[in-house]
Amino acid sequence: MNINKKYKVLFVCLGNICRSPAAQGIFESVVAAHGASDRIEADSAGIYSGHQGQLPDRRMRAAASARGYDLTHRARPVSSLDFLDFDLVIAMDDENYEDLMHLAPSVEATHKIKRMASYLTTHKISYIPDPYYMGQDGFELVLDLLEESCANLYRSL
Ligand code: 4NP
Repeated sequence: MNINKKYKVLFVCLGNICRSPAAQGIFESVVAAHGASDRIEADSAGIYSGHQGQLPDRRMRAAASARGYDLTHRARPVSSLDFLDFDLVIAMDDENYEDLMHLAPSVEATHKIKRMASYLTTHKISYIPDPYYMGQDGFELVLDLLEESCANLYRSL
């Protein structure tokens, strides 16, 4: 990690209203709990721009709030310029990963792209499922997966 500049992590999902803003909020909590907010910064963005400007989905805000996370991010689309600004760009599922690989402006930039599920250890699943059309259980599962992966991501930095 470069000690002169903040290390910047961007979480990306499809809509930027469920998984990636939750990942951002959880990761920011982990970073703050370790007193590392002056060194590590997080943001989130979506492949699809249709929810631009919106707060996270109310079901996700409610489920996250019950675990102590206040999600206040406003949705925005990911841009190829994000690859210049961020050190890590983390995809929630395989489609997000492929879309990011196509958006990356250089081969070097593709090396910044990781899968969120690659930071899971106890859960045996290769992607963070889209909870948008799932019930309450889907949101709880996503939060379980994100809590584990965010803790392991922090340890990996
Ligand atoms: P997310 O969930 O990618 O976790 O934010 C979704 C939210 C909205 C849509 C798809 C996925 N949508 O198609 O509107």
